[in-house]
Amino acid sequence: MSAVRFLTGITTSGTPHLGNYVGSIRPAVAASLRPGVESYYFLADYHALIKIDEPARIRRSTLEIAASWLAAGLDPERVVFYRQSDVPEIPELTWFLTCVTGKGVLNRAHAYKASVDKNVAAELDPDAEVTAGLFMYPVLMGADILMFNAHHVPVGRDQIQHIEMARDMAHSFNHRYGEHFVAPQAAIEESVATLPGLDGRKMSKSYDNTIPLFAPRTELKKLITSIKTDSRAPGEAKSTEGSALFQIYRAFASAEETAAFAQDFANGIAWGEAKDRLFERIDREIAPMRARYEHLMAHPQEVEAMLHAGAAKARAVATPFMARLRQAVGLRSLSSASAAGPAKAAKVAAASFKQYREKDGQFYFKLVDAKGVLLLQSLGFASPKEAGVAIAHIKQDGLAALDALGGQLSESHASPEALQAALDSMASE
Ligand code: TRP
Repeated sequence: MSAVRFLTGITTSGTPHLGNYVGSIRPAVAASLRPGVESYYFLADYHALIKIDEPARIRRSTLEIAASWLAAGLDPERVVFYRQSDVPEIPELTWFLTCVTGKGVLNRAHAYKASVDKNVAAELDPDAEVTAGLFMYPVLMGADILMFNAHHVPVGRDQIQHIEMARDMAHSFNHRYGEHFVAPQAAIEESVATLPGLDGRKMSKSYDNTIPLFAPRTELKKLITSIKTDSRAPGEAKSTEGSALFQIYRAFASAEETAAFAQDFANGIAWGEAKDRLFERIDREIAPMRARYEHLMAHPQEVEAMLHAGAAKARAVATPFMARLRQAVGLRSLSSASAAGPAKAAKVAAASFKQYREKDGQFYFKLVDAKGVLLLQSLGFASPKEAGVAIAHIKQDGLAALDALGGQLSESHASPEALQAALDSMASE
């Protein structure tokens, strides 16, 4: 049985803050360490282009977010950690999904509708200042998810509608072209509270009330000192209810520490002292990660190398899958006889590729016809993924791929016509 796949994207449009850490980074890193789970985490930089047209900000945010996740303990060996724009199959899949998604469905997407409602309220043209990018946002997100056939997508509540749309896209595509996609599900962490910001409202970039996750110690201290409190004097009992300070503390502390802190509130702790305690508690958790963060920020080439390695892992899945999807929709080599019509080709029993490992430790594949007769034999590949990519090329480009792959194949055991017929028999499956 293959593992359960989790996938989530982070739009590269800002600097990670404590709310992002508590609400998404920390639980995601913890989830990625569970056995039997395959995790895909990516930097959604194509999504960032929808909101941001400042190149330097996109780059900076990409680095900050990547460094934050790595500093918080994400292990790039264990998960697939990549940048969306390093995987060109994603925009290609976006187009395939665009063609099976109702325009009316996108009209109802919250983000787009909110912009339209605002324009209408202001008596402007409903689509004033609305880009097609904003309109297409859910389709790009659907492609992110379906590209890797993710089962579970950890997101905030505001994203649930997008996951439902991705499910619909999976169904529409499967209905037309056969079972290719898994229907994804939103995974909402019920136990994770949203963190209040400096002013007591939800911590969010749009309220300008955030505490950056890796603010230097002195800045962290200053920001915590500025958290809004009521005017109760030292010695007066304080209420934990509705106290941003208390809620932030609870998100970092154990149950015992939290209970003790609540007791201190009842006993009339001074706000200044409570803030010191909060600062020390947060800094205790963050300081070791901060050192790693600062190192990565100063060595962006290390982050770049990790993202490249992640993209290679992602593409080892995406490239062959996309080749299969191209076949499925009919973007096929013209030298393939299946252009004559699937009905005729379907009568031919299907040939198949077999992948296996030899004693020399290398990975091989062969193409055999329906009766098991050998048609094509590969040489050794260093990994099963490389062998898979070669197979995908052959499936996609037919005989044309054989020339390109010449160095990786031993002699062909069949005539070009027989090979082509075998490939066609698979294409029309
Ligand atoms: N739209 C998501 C957000 O703003 C980010 C995102 C992009 C995403 N693609 C995704 C999340 C795919 C989950 C899966 O939070």
